[in-house]
Amino acid sequence: MGPSGMTSVVFTGIGLLYTADPEREEIEDAALVAENGVVRWIGRSADAPPADERVDVEGRAVIPGFVDSHAHLVFAGDRTEEFAARMAGRPYTAGGIRSTVAATRRATIPELVTTTALLVSEMTMQGTTTFEIKSGYGLTVEDERRSLEIACQFTEETTFLGAHVVPPDTTADDYVRLVTGPMLEACAPYAKWADVFCERGAFGEEHSREVLAAGRKAGLQLRVHANQLGPGPGVRLACEMGAASADHCTHLTDADVDALAAGGVVATLLPGAEFSTRSPYPDARRLLDAGVAVALATDCNPGSSFTTSMPFCVALAVREMGMTPLEAVRAATRGGARALRRTDVGTLSAGSHADLVILEAPSYVHLAYRPGVPLVAQVWRRGRRLV
Ligand code: NIG
Ligand code: FE
Repeated sequence: MGPSGMTSVVFTGIGLLYTADPEREEIEDAALVAENGVVRWIGRSADAPPADERVDVEGRAVIPGFVDSHAHLVFAGDRTEEFAARMAGRPYTAGGIRSTVAATRRATIPELVTTTALLVSEMTMQGTTTFEIKSGYGLTVEDERRSLEIACQFTEETTFLGAHVVPPDTTADDYVRLVTGPMLEACAPYAKWADVFCERGAFGEEHSREVLAAGRKAGLQLRVHANQLGPGPGVRLACEMGAASADHCTHLTDADVDALAAGGVVATLLPGAEFSTRSPYPDARRLLDAGVAVALATDCNPGSSFTTSMPFCVALAVREMGMTPLEAVRAATRGGARALRRTDVGTLSAGSHADLVILEAPSYVHLAYRPGVPLVAQVWRRGRRLV
């Protein structure tokens, strides 16, 4: 504690500081001062001012904590057999969601809290300091409400995804009435965002528009699962409705790409899903070249992408999606923040939260260059060490 009651930490000897701040994106031989959880100063290591605590980074690289803007963490059970069958040649369909719904409904609140906490701690260990959590495996008013109540224990970035699939024993019309009526009313107090899985086999254009319009009317901001399994209206709808982000973006027309660029809608790419469904990866290069803002996220869920690892997604994006290491790390930090409409995380600059990762490596490039290697040495959130 300093005399003013504030606590400050100075990180010195940062071999390469990746700030994700467009003004000054990379600084060699850098130092950073965090005071009361906020970044106060960034500069050359030799000029570093004193602080209550000093952490010598010893030449390693520092990046902002990852921002994972798309994750489905509240669920029970797993889908090991479905994954194994897929790797033996069976295709992925959204139908598997219903088996997770059945298991989630059977689970108790403490059981769901325990699994969510385990996944959150996996995320933290791998350098994620801000993350979104969606509902979507309850699909009744009470099961969706309790999923979001649990999500709120872990993050302020909570998303109502009652419109994940149509549950058995109801029609799409009736279910959309429930989602946009009593379910939304029960869930909106626990949610910042509304989302819909706009896809063949889930919700069509009209139903998706109704879900998004109702969410917006209830004061929620919008994001959309769009164009994951095939071409469709999802991306266009996300742009039309002013969503922050269109997520997946695997099958895009030129008009979709233009609409994303013109509308400033973030394309959130989820390579863990293509990895685990053995599908073609989205073309990040095409999006970046068209001026679309790109985010990377895990899509952690038991069906299509059971990973909590942002470093894994960065490596996939570089190897499989035409991104440079710089673009991928940018998309995993500042990109994710933009997808959540946050300016206080995802970059390291004066005034932002002191959320940072010290890598066991001289450069962020190693995240792609050394795939599968645990390179996260320390994780700090709000100026406090978590890992
Ligand atoms: O984002 N696409 C819809 N939802 C998830 C998959 C959920 C599941 O298979 O359980 C996704 O990939
Ligand atoms: Fe998803």
